[in-house]
Amino acid sequence: MTIGNLALISLDSGKEFARRTCEELNKIYSSEQKDDQLALTPSDEVHFSNGEVKVMINNSLRDKDVYIFQLIEDPHSPKSINDNIMALSTAIDACFYCDAKRITAVIPQYPYARQDKKRGREGITAKVVGKMFENTGADRVITLDIHSEAIEGFFNKLKIENLHCGRYFVQYIKNNLNVNNLTIVAPDVGSAKRGLYYSSKLETNLAIIEKVRDYHKVSTIDTMRLVGDVKGRDVFINDDMLATGGTLLSACRLLKDQGARDIYITVSLPFFNKQAYIKFDKAYKNGLFKQVIGTDAVMWGDYFLKSYPWYKEISVAPLFAQVISSLNMEKSVSKLLE
Ligand code: R5P
Repeated sequence: MTIGNLALISLDSGKEFARRTCEELNKIYSSEQKDDQLALTPSDEVHFSNGEVKVMINNSLRDKDVYIFQLIEDPHSPKSINDNIMALSTAIDACFYCDAKRITAVIPQYPYARQDKKRGREGITAKVVGKMFENTGADRVITLDIHSEAIEGFFNKLKIENLHCGRYFVQYIKNNLNVNNLTIVAPDVGSAKRGLYYSSKLETNLAIIEKVRDYHKVSTIDTMRLVGDVKGRDVFINDDMLATGGTLLSACRLLKDQGARDIYITVSLPFFNKQAYIKFDKAYKNGLFKQVIGTDAVMWGDYFLKSYPWYKEISVAPLFAQVISSLNMEKSVSKLLE
């Protein structure tokens, strides 16, 4: 059996994640005894001296089911989020003109997802970027733990597959921590639903932090209050993203003040903006937390992993590979989206 007209393309910032996903897809296909070996379709991301970008595809995509990989926020690239969004849009457009049958953007980090609603005279930027992908010809976006599920309903044609890495974190906790002495903590009210997921999967209790932000200042927390009891308990905090780290470090301090023992953090998108890993390293050395477990949806690389032993990376490439393989073979994906 041949691989169903599948083509994988990677932009510069998505290359390692695309390589890992391709490897996982080949494992799926070899277990299904298919002979073909999937490889990335060659392409070039061309940057002009004034900052403009275009993407050139070097093989035919006629009638192909195309998946374009991009990690929009790349800590090792001088390119900005906006540069990478623009590169992705030009790649989608190139695939459209190549007569691809279906175009999917594989972006584990959905950009601008925090601005899913407006307060006063603002725009809804989560909609703006999705519309841009939709208008250039994307049929679908595959992403990870999107900050607000409401975004999935913003579009008329663009479908969003929102994957969850909770199953990997649950497995890791079951294998590595003493679940009997564990309390799950949701670091803000918005993450209570995810907290309930973990508390039901791990059969342990849940506490919630009420976080009040000052929205007049960027990334500023006003107050935090714990609802629940963590005294003498190990704690597991999950958040969808770590940006400046203010939320998680403040949560750790509050939990320690309330008598928590060891604190473990899991986060789907560990951005560590503004070198927040330096603050985390210091906090770790001061005994504030035991471990941060993130995913390769933000690709930090070997040097980072060796430099910060408190950080553990779990790969979500197998999950993306399963979803891509199912979509490509027109099989149901609902079980994979749980
Ligand atoms: C907020 O609603 C999010 O779930 C994260 O808690 C937040 O974006 C993290 O930002 P920071 O690390 O800057 O506190």
